[in-house]
Amino acid sequence: MSDIGSSPIDTEPITLTRFVLEEQRKHPKATGDFTALVNSIQTAVKAVSSAVRKAGIHRLYGISGTANISGDEVKKLDVLANDLFINMLKSSYLTCVLASEENENAIIVETERQGRYMVCFDPLDGSSNIDCLVSIGSIFGVYRRHEEGDSVEQDILKPGRQMVAAGYALYGSATMIVLTTGDGVNGFMLDPAIGEFILTEKDIKIKPRGKIYSINEGYEASWDEATKEYVKSKKYPTKGSPYGARYIGSMVADVHRTLVYGGIFMYPGTKESPNGKLRLLYEGNPMAFIVEQAGGMATTGTMPILDITPESVHQRIPVFLGSKEDVQDVIDLYAKHKK
Ligand code: AHM
Ligand code: MG
Repeated sequence: MSDIGSSPIDTEPITLTRFVLEEQRKHPKATGDFTALVNSIQTAVKAVSSAVRKAGIHRLYGISGTANISGDEVKKLDVLANDLFINMLKSSYLTCVLASEENENAIIVETERQGRYMVCFDPLDGSSNIDCLVSIGSIFGVYRRHEEGDSVEQDILKPGRQMVAAGYALYGSATMIVLTTGDGVNGFMLDPAIGEFILTEKDIKIKPRGKIYSINEGYEASWDEATKEYVKSKKYPTKGSPYGARYIGSMVADVHRTLVYGGIFMYPGTKESPNGKLRLLYEGNPMAFIVEQAGGMATTGTMPILDITPESVHQRIPVFLGSKEDVQDVIDLYAKHKK
């Protein structure tokens, strides 16, 4: 730490790049490819963060900052975020198959730009919160391709357990990347002064039990019996105090709060949509990997999310994740109601 005037400056900051580089050096066979891949994701996140921070200005003046009087179509933030992720990942020369929430089919990278990684991502999640300035985020999960021959969409339909890394970026009161490479979870806050993500939350662990439940209660009439009984037990406990309710409606923000404060986040199936709303590949799986790595649990109610073998790119699954004991209570209720 040095002092310039009155503000202390950390002269040994652990940036995200440095962190990943050091992690990779523990593996003698590492080529540095993964560090470069994370760099391409970081660049996309920085650009999305900057766009999110001035979203309203974009709409009025156009992305370049000049008045958009010519009537040019201003790219919507979710489209912009998707283009940024795809372009950064393709131009890393490290990916072969990409699955995005915004694209109907998996994207097969041009042969001459292919590498061995596959990435599932939701470039800008929480679309209903974009226009009212509530926190939104990006989510990603990374796999290594082992198949020989031409890449096909099927290659990316792997159980979440096979992920080599997962993370999310939260565009909240600050921008933060939370990352796991299968050896714990770490949080990196964007320092806008130097444009780098700095390690600020080391080895994040989720409390075994929390005091908050998080669910869209508007759909209560369509929940299954297990979910109804669970939520009721939190509101009208037979002993102790009721849990607090928090629901932002942005998965990244709701999951981040759950990691930091503990408790449970739920998006169950409903009568109309038995598998709920959230998508396995780029919402459920990356978050499940992070939560498990932080010592929590992530289930559909009847099985761990990470054990599901996906059947299609945009498959939906019910999600219950968070503090181990809270999630176990849900699993127990599903077992009870199945009988
Ligand atoms: P999106 O991908 O269209 O943004 O939808 C996903 C979002 C999640 O971030 C959030 O958990 C959920 O939708 C909220 O849905 P609802 O408004 O039904 O509660
Ligand atoms: Mg989404």
